[in-house]
Amino acid sequence: MNPKEEIHHLTEEIKRHNYSYYVLASPTISDYEFDQLLTKLQKLETQYPEWKLPDSPTERVGGTITKDFPSFRHLHPMLSLGNSYSEADLDEFDKQIQKLAEGRPYSYLVEHKFDGVSLSLHYENGLLMRGVTRGDGQQGDEITANAKTIGSVPLRLRGNHFPDQLEVRGEVMMFQSDFGALNQAREAEGLAPLMNPRNTTAGTLKMQDSGQVAARPLQFFAYHLITNPLTVPSDYEQMDLLENWGFKLGKFHSHCPTIQAVHHYIQAWEERRKDLDYDIDGIVIKVNELDLREIMGNTAKAPRWAIAFKYKAVESYTQVESVDYQVGRTGKITPVANLIPVLLAGTTVKRASIHNADEIGRLDLHLEDTVSIEKGGDIIPKITGVVLEKRRTGAMAVQFPIHCPACSTKLIQPEGEVNHFCPNVSGCPPQIKGRISHFAGRKAMDIEGLGTEIVNTLVDQGLIQNYADLYELTYEQLIPLERFADQSVKNLLEGIEKSKSQPFARVLFGLGIRYVGATVAQKLAAASQNIQTLLAMSHEELVAIPDIGGRIAESIQEFSSGEENQILINQLLKAGLRLELGEEDASQPESDLLSGKIFVISGIFASQSRDELKVLIKKMGGKVSSSLSKKTSYLVAGENAGPSKMEKASQLEIPILSEEAFLKLLE
Ligand code: IVH
Repeated sequence: MNPKEEIHHLTEEIKRHNYSYYVLASPTISDYEFDQLLTKLQKLETQYPEWKLPDSPTERVGGTITKDFPSFRHLHPMLSLGNSYSEADLDEFDKQIQKLAEGRPYSYLVEHKFDGVSLSLHYENGLLMRGVTRGDGQQGDEITANAKTIGSVPLRLRGNHFPDQLEVRGEVMMFQSDFGALNQAREAEGLAPLMNPRNTTAGTLKMQDSGQVAARPLQFFAYHLITNPLTVPSDYEQMDLLENWGFKLGKFHSHCPTIQAVHHYIQAWEERRKDLDYDIDGIVIKVNELDLREIMGNTAKAPRWAIAFKYKAVESYTQVESVDYQVGRTGKITPVANLIPVLLAGTTVKRASIHNADEIGRLDLHLEDTVSIEKGGDIIPKITGVVLEKRRTGAMAVQFPIHCPACSTKLIQPEGEVNHFCPNVSGCPPQIKGRISHFAGRKAMDIEGLGTEIVNTLVDQGLIQNYADLYELTYEQLIPLERFADQSVKNLLEGIEKSKSQPFARVLFGLGIRYVGATVAQKLAAASQNIQTLLAMSHEELVAIPDIGGRIAESIQEFSSGEENQILINQLLKAGLRLELGEEDASQPESDLLSGKIFVISGIFASQSRDELKVLIKKMGGKVSSSLSKKTSYLVAGENAGPSKMEKASQLEIPILSEEAFLKLLE
């Protein structure tokens, strides 16, 4: 097979596997085999870019960075739906439809109202050209690169029978199970949990790095086809078309000949919806006959031929007493409403998160407002709306603060962020306390006897200002403090002393560098070997470390450029903390074939991933370093090895090994 044929062949094969995995949810090969095929295709495409196909599955891997998403005016407005809450509402809707149908026979198509983010996909000659968010319904953001990373979005329609131009609308969602797993992983990294699948989906679709979008498990469920002229007479048949073209549909759409059948469907799902792995916020009822839809038309906001039925959420009403603004360890400001306590789904709720300033604006929240609160999949209940009729005249609007509630520094809102931050990193008490508590925490230095309360006391008493100060505390300083006795002081000092032997990765995590969670810290520790090397790394060197993206790299560089941080690190080094990889951190080598040799790896390898290669070198007794120096024994260069690394290696006269040559070395 020549390269062109091979690329074609691989593309088709991977597409088949993708379809089985993402649309049919029945994988045909192992993840490992799949990755091998994809890597092979990627390599060929880099070698022969002229043969790369426009719908190549390598597009799904992402990697495109979009600074500002261009606006796109919808070809047809993306409308919303009228709501109904009872059988009576629906009977009323049915009467309306009957009138509009003027004696022509009609029926309904009903399905779940997916609680995600709507997305419009444009296809030309079967090829995905564009993905556009709903925006304000008239125009949205073009997020094509991000849409392409969603496995169940076809990059090319299956088969040959489709109109030249068509638009498919549907909902992007995250399954609850995937969301749970994502949050678990975040927790392990010491990151704040994400609020709920819907917000996470919305946030993910707006990420600038499509590579990050690709890493998030998003689903696309198609529910609406727009073609001109129509190809089939009913929605039910359109759903079949969509399915045949390779789209994933909600499994439970149903054709109901009468409104009574619609009532049954709604009743059946009242309970059953709780067993779904995705959130629905009701049922959508649409006239099935497409010609009737055209006759019935739309109002300014919604089609006349469709309506949403909303189930009652677990909801309650109460009043807002005040709003607090919490300052996190990163300086992030979170508004939290204090409520008149109310019983909701079995627990008493006193507080509800309001997320950020935008949300206060969206709700137009005033003090003493009667608000509806809802407990969804979220951990903390949320305020879903304000009962405007109950607002007291003269009630004060809730104003997001301009200054930090803790230290009065003017707040900032970094570009592209919905959150506000207090920039007074080194002087703002809750940030200081938060960082020390994080450092002492279970996943970092795990200092026994140093809970949040004690940290607060130590900071308030002026005994410590940062985590490095912990190592200078003395018995004499602590014993006069309230709640401290001889034994508790000794225990605390012992706990602090013991923490000095925590491994490098934990210390690194404890430093509280933004986006450096526990797992990332381990990867950074392994790749850099010691803190000085890590903090001296260039952006390119950092992003060359597996799983380290631009955002983490930037954050590390920001940390290392802070003068106070350099002082902190020196203080920690002086205290004797482990800021380099120790012998016991590396897995025991199985052989000493490569002992004393230091390797630097660059590029992509056919036989194994870079991570696997590193493990292999360590197993054979060698060391892996991320940057070249006179001490480097070899540069192992795979496909697309970094040109600057290659040049530096030649300058330093370091032997460059190809993948083959390296594998030979092992023999
Ligand atoms: S059909 C509005 N079907 O609900 C014209 N919409 O509140 C046709 N939605 O913007 C829409 N699940 O994003 C339809 N099964 C479903 C849906 C659905 C969720 C969303 C859609 C729309 C919003 C209206």
